[in-house]
Amino acid sequence: MKELEIGDLLHEGKAKKVFHTNHKAVVAVQFKDDATAFNAQKKAQLAGKGLLNWEISARLFEALENRGVASHYLGCLEPGWMAVQALKIVPLEVVLRNLAAGSLCKQLPIAPGSSLQPALLDLFYKDDALGDPLLTEARLKLLALLEPAERVQLEAISRDVNRVLQQIFVEINITLVDFKLEFGRCDAGKLLLADEISPDTCRLWNQSDQRVLDKDRFRKDLGGVVEAYGEVLKRVQGLGPTPRQYR
Ligand code: TMP
Ligand code: ASP
Repeated sequence: MKELEIGDLLHEGKAKKVFHTNHKAVVAVQFKDDATAFNAQKKAQLAGKGLLNWEISARLFEALENRGVASHYLGCLEPGWMAVQALKIVPLEVVLRNLAAGSLCKQLPIAPGSSLQPALLDLFYKDDALGDPLLTEARLKLLALLEPAERVQLEAISRDVNRVLQQIFVEINITLVDFKLEFGRCDAGKLLLADEISPDTCRLWNQSDQRVLDKDRFRKDLGGVVEAYGEVLKRVQGLGPTPRQYR
């Protein structure tokens, strides 16, 4: 197979850019230093964040794969870049919560830190202009974004991801409070885990003292954002070898 060459920009999101490549089924993802919160109403540049999220994500996708959970991840390119399967992204955000935090505690009378068992799974319609609204099952049907069988599959995969990520984070003394996943369909129509798994998309608390190690440091102006992400990377590096190169 010809060596991978990065082509034109296909899509620019808030935290990543996606490029075509000379391999039809492969796109290249570049992790950016841009940080946003509250549907991009709050913005900053955090030097080093892109590289941290890139390596954390690569390592977590590989750890998931090693434990039986597939994703779009194919391998790393140069630092900050990864090769992933080209997918049609489904405009949904799947949020799983093991402990109550964030918007859940703003919207419902549930104390922060309350245990949620089984994990609470909610779907949001991915659209910043609409404020990523929470979906009901009826609204999900109305939008016809998923076939009924895909709805079942999406939840099963998400719960598998949660089970495996919880195991992984326990090993490195981090509590996985909640996280957001995105999915896409490959050409054959199969649903596959996509996007990234990083402190931008998870709430991660240091187990011993509940120190916040995720994007809440940015959302809540707690400072030390990049340092906290660096701490997550250091621990995730303890899980296994350097992520593989794509070739
Ligand atoms: P929330 O409590 O603000 O709804 O967030 C739940 C989880 O989803 C948390 O880990 C942060 C993550 N998240 C994203 O990755 N992107 C988003 O746009 C939002 C709102 C949350
Ligand atoms: N990802 C969203 C944004 O960039 C919201 C968030 O993560 O808080 O605005």
